[in-house]
Amino acid sequence: MNNLDSNVFNHIKIGIIGCGHLGQAILESLINHGFFKENIFVSYKGNSSTYKKIKQLGLAICISENEKIFNEADVVFVTTKPQDVICFKEILFSENTIVVSCLAGVSVEILKNIFKTHVCRIMLSGPDTIVAAKGVAAVYPYNKLVGCILNKMNLRIFEISDERDMDIFTTGVCLPAALLQEDNEETIKEAINEIEKDCAMFLDLYAWAKKILPSFNTESEKVEYITRMVTKGGITEAIIDSLKAGDLFITALRKGITRSKDISLEISNFILN
Ligand SMILES: NC(=O)c1ccc[n+]([C@@H]2O[C@H](COP(=O)([O-])OP(=O)(O)OC[C@H]3O[C@@H](n4cnc5c(N)ncnc54)[C@H](OP(=O)(O)O)[C@@H]3O)[C@@H](O)[C@H]2O)c1
Repeated sequence: MNNLDSNVFNHIKIGIIGCGHLGQAILESLINHGFFKENIFVSYKGNSSTYKKIKQLGLAICISENEKIFNEADVVFVTTKPQDVICFKEILFSENTIVVSCLAGVSVEILKNIFKTHVCRIMLSGPDTIVAAKGVAAVYPYNKLVGCILNKMNLRIFEISDERDMDIFTTGVCLPAALLQEDNEETIKEAINEIEKDCAMFLDLYAWAKKILPSFNTESEKVEYITRMVTKGGITEAIIDSLKAGDLFITALRKGITRSKDISLEISNFILN
């Protein structure tokens, strides 16, 4: 934790705007790692099933208004869908707040335009890996306090120096599903080495993905797991569809990276228009 006082975690206030799949996983992880529920604020849009889930976790006490969260929390994780981010433009909040965007594809430039305060962008692996404290997080630009919080949640941190590498990292967190779909070790290794030439962290992401791969009793359990990892129009879908079509592993990964770039572009166009 270097110079950051370890007691900081006893009084730091953390907000989570958008308590869906990812937001709930972050919430659960913070609680599991000793953050006081009194110091955590969460919001959602109004879906009754979201409320039920927060209540089941015994954390209804953490629910708060967005304005209050942006003004009272020191660090605010934004975990809504990317296209919902624009509604925060009108909110006035403390200039000391650090906004941590978990929104895939929303650039730091756009975030700075929406949140007129300190912003940092992170990309996390799937919610199940966050709750299991086996996840990975890419951070851009690096922020020491945010890094400490993620460390405390037992996430492996990748400091990103070029924002464009977020697309490669986002493809990397889809590796668990891709590795289950592909049997040919040789083509997997060739592909990883190839992508690593552009982005050195890819080898570490591969090692992480192999380590967290679940084992299955039956083939249908495995297929079910892969299906759960796939979101319609998402990056994992692009990779899995490519592998199913018989493409080489490297081609499938490149299609995943391209899909990530396309999604970022679609989101930017949506937000800016
Ligand atoms: N899921 C993943 O594996 C994953 C991994 C990495 C990154 N991400 C990123 O994480 C973000 C969330 O994904 P998700 O799968 O968790 O989505 P999700 O389950 O749909 O959750 C979105 C949440 O945002 C809430 N929300 C919407 N507008 C809001 C507002 N104005 N104020 C407060 N809350 C609001 C929704 O409330 P209601 O529940 O009331 O509708 C919902 O709880 C996305 O941007 C995605 O790019 C997701």
